[in-house]
Amino acid sequence: MMADGPVLEAYLSGAISAPVALMRLLLPGTPPAALERQAAAAPDAAAGERLRRLLDLARQHRDGLGLLERMVQAGAAHGDEANPAAAIAASRAMFDRLVAISPEASVAAYTLGDAGLLRAATDELVGWLERQDLLSGLLDLGCGIGRLAAALAPQAAKVTGLDVSPGMIAAARQRCGGYGNLRFAVSSGS
Ligand SMILES: C[S@@+](CC[C@H](N)C(=O)[O-])C[C@H]1O[C@@H](n2cnc3c(N)ncnc32)[C@H](O)[C@@H]1O
Repeated sequence: MMADGPVLEAYLSGAISAPVALMRLLLPGTPPAALERQAAAAPDAAAGERLRRLLDLARQHRDGLGLLERMVQAGAAHGDEANPAAAIAASRAMFDRLVAISPEASVAAYTLGDAGLLRAATDELVGWLERQDLLSGLLDLGCGIGRLAAALAPQAAKVTGLDVSPGMIAAARQRCGGYGNLRFAVSSGS
């Protein structure tokens, strides 16, 4: 099995997309050079082709990869807190740090900070909500920068976005200022 096997296997089987695979490989620290070695040692031509596509994506998003690195350095993980209140405070502080680095990557690291990738992922999600007929009144818990609320605003009756991070709510209000049917508030997280 290749190093980073489970992620690459999921990508090669089509179970996860190239942006998601790249994020899962690079966030824990796999260097892009390791992907080049794996592409060269691919078991067959089809796998080699898919791995090269992954590398192309990494090359096209050098700035985005830098963003991910900055997010990791700023502390993109927590989990050792002694109690629920401390865990919520750590989560709030972490998302406040991340949204200041990149609004897009802070809510979906696999976008590598690319607004177009975030729009495509948001459209997919909104399409699903539409097909389920779920657009009458929505509570967006952990709404982040409000990208879903903004995409839902033209069709939904009302969307309430709550988030534990004041930085996220500030970004959501800025992004969604023009819509009268959206409301955002900082929540306690519990
Ligand atoms: C990865 S972001 C996703 C944001 C948004 N759902 C999206 O898909 O664009 C997770 C968000 O959940 C928020 N969050 C985490 N724990 C929360 C809690 N206990 N209550 C409310 N928001 C929370 C974070 O501040 C962050 O904005």
